[in-house]
Amino acid sequence: MGTPGAGKGTQGALLASRYGACHVSTGDILRDAARQGTPLGLEARRYMDDGHLVPDDLVTGIVADRLASPECGKGFLLDGFPRTVPQAEALGRLLTERGQPLDAVILITVPTEEVVRRLSGRRVCPDCVAMFHVALQPPATPGRCDRCGGALVQREDDREDTVRHRLAVYTRETAPVLEHYRRAGLLREVDGTGTREDVARHVEAALA
Ligand code: AP5
Repeated sequence: MGTPGAGKGTQGALLASRYGACHVSTGDILRDAARQGTPLGLEARRYMDDGHLVPDDLVTGIVADRLASPECGKGFLLDGFPRTVPQAEALGRLLTERGQPLDAVILITVPTEEVVRRLSGRRVCPDCVAMFHVALQPPATPGRCDRCGGALVQREDDREDTVRHRLAVYTRETAPVLEHYRRAGLLREVDGTGTREDVARHVEAALA
């Protein structure tokens, strides 16, 4: 968990590969559906581009389907979910049914101005979802994905005014979820500043 731009996607990909867990990013799943023009994707895009949350029942259904897939059988890492108290409650019911409780909830914290700097410079590859930053992690060839050569784009919701709206939505809707997990004794807070490798070490230490 963490605000937009805290580094959830970056650390999620690293951790999932280290532990052999499946990386379930609701943002990536929704963007992929939007790109493919599925009914779910088209509905989700109406909310995402302006930085609003997609309705709980849609997102919870996506996560339930994904966790039931064979590649998530050995364990999973949730990135960007749950984001509201009703989502956290639905996840609790789902995991109880599956007999697969959460081991930990990692909260990555980064100051607001750093978040705005990270997101305004972020560029993504729509083909393979690789992520870059114009200054902090530039691709070898400007505008081209190092991994697959695709053309890099800026996410529609990474405009500065939309980023600030997403931060307000986080404070209103998602911050209460942290209390839910703090009370359950699962929350581990990690400093998200420093390099990706620094943060990965903090996350590993928090899990250990
Ligand atoms: P989502 O895709 O989940 O976006 P988000 O939570 O706003 O998070 P971001 O992807 O912006 O940031 P991140 O924390 O993953 O940081 P990242 O690693 O990319 O959701 C998008 C939208 O989908 C939502 O607004 C909503 O509409 C919808 N949605 C998704 N889930 C939902 C749900 N559960 N319920 C309802 N709606 C939902 O890093 C950011 C940048 O910083 C990158 O450029 C990266 O290279 C750079 N960076 C990362 N770490 C470092 C570091 N240590 N130092 C320097 N730069 C770094």
